[in-house]
Amino acid sequence: MKTSIRVSLIISIIGLCVVFGVLVWQTGDDRPTSASQQTPDIGRSFDLVSDDGAPITQEFLRGRFTLLYFGFTYCPDVCPTSLQVMTQALAEIEAFENSSPQVTPVFVTVDPARDTPEALKQYVSHFHPRLQGWTGSEEQIAAAMRSFKVYRARVDDPTVPDGYTIDHSSIFYLMDPNGNFLAHFDHAVTPEKLAKTLTQLTNQTKVMR
Ligand code: NI
Repeated sequence: MKTSIRVSLIISIIGLCVVFGVLVWQTGDDRPTSASQQTPDIGRSFDLVSDDGAPITQEFLRGRFTLLYFGFTYCPDVCPTSLQVMTQALAEIEAFENSSPQVTPVFVTVDPARDTPEALKQYVSHFHPRLQGWTGSEEQIAAAMRSFKVYRARVDDPTVPDGYTIDHSSIFYLMDPNGNFLAHFDHAVTPEKLAKTLTQLTNQTKVMR
């Protein structure tokens, strides 16, 4: 009698351990999936100034796909090249994929001291008719860069205008019409690849109204 109680107790404990173990395993298994389904915390909040001098917040992202790039107008090389990639990709989409949702291109300065709304407006007009330039106070730009996790470092260089240039991360950010981060692209992406991926992502993204 005593032995059979002990045996059934042991069996019960083993059973509980198995059930508990499965629960722990399932919870642990669930975690990476739900984490990867969450929208990354990028571009949630910003307070900037458009190249028309108007206030711009994350509300701008609502109802449209937005492709943002951070740089500065005095950038000798990387920024103009990246903006050309952006422009060519958009031209390709506009030429061949007329049914795709339109993507609004935005250039955000990391050099607000020199990139005034007027300077930006003139600069972006060289690249794409719909390209917008956003600036702000140093504090506003610093906060927007934190929001998008953009890197920037001032580099003194006596050979260039004003004696400095700026090292900065060179990444395109695609935001969806709900204001959520959708994808990023390295600046080395080709216009063809960027156009193809933008077309795929904008067509497959469900828009919540
Ligand atoms: Ni640059």
